[in-house]
Amino acid sequence: MRRRVIAGNWKMYKTLAETRAFFSAFLPLVSNAKHCDIAVAPPFTALSTAVEAAKGSSVAIAGQNVSWSKEGAFTGEVSAPMLAEVGCRYVIIGHSERRQVFRETDDNVAKKTLMALSSGLTPIVCLGETQEERDAGLAEEVLSRQFTGGPGALTAEEFSRILIAYEPVWAIGTGRTATPEIAAEAHSLLRRCAGENFSVHLASALRILYGGSVKPDNIQGLMAQEELDGALVGGASLDAKSFAAIVNFV
Ligand code: PGA
Repeated sequence: MRRRVIAGNWKMYKTLAETRAFFSAFLPLVSNAKHCDIAVAPPFTALSTAVEAAKGSSVAIAGQNVSWSKEGAFTGEVSAPMLAEVGCRYVIIGHSERRQVFRETDDNVAKKTLMALSSGLTPIVCLGETQEERDAGLAEEVLSRQFTGGPGALTAEEFSRILIAYEPVWAIGTGRTATPEIAAEAHSLLRRCAGENFSVHLASALRILYGGSVKPDNIQGLMAQEELDGALVGGASLDAKSFAAIVNFV
């Protein structure tokens, strides 16, 4: 049985004071949660505060993005060694907002993943199709292309250290969750890609999170699917009570 992961992606929300308030409220609510790994991804400015606030708990901190370079003249970027130094354990890579708004490509995703791995971070590599692609019957093709160009370009050893998040773009921030069946179908496809690119063993060990309008009232249905190894939660991770209710889905 793969260990589940519940990760929160705060996007561009929360000041330092709000970060401290979140952890004061959240940690007591999840102190008995032993059934899954828990991570929270605050904005860069709040990482250090979040690491400090979560110290001694089982909650890991994640970056929301990372540079593909170790250092250099890259104004506005943050490197993997910097994230590791501040105390991050995970980093989200290739979120659809990065791909769509900031034009990140599969190649960028592959390079960022390598950099994150070389700093000892666990990458959470996101992929997912848009509404138009799904309507045109292209979901499978898009997912396998994103897989091949990103995670599929790693070595088997590197691949064994990443998490994948299936995030259909049409479900992100829209309140339209994928049905557990649609999500499970996409997860099986990705697991099949992993089997073909690497091995059946690595494919069955791979943890694939689902993301897109995960809420306290739909987490159970999603987690009832064996294919879903956890969730990447946006909006509902901003509120300590609702994120704790998602973590405590069992
Ligand atoms: P959402 O965001 O839960 O607000 O839909 C998910 C994500 O973007 O990771």
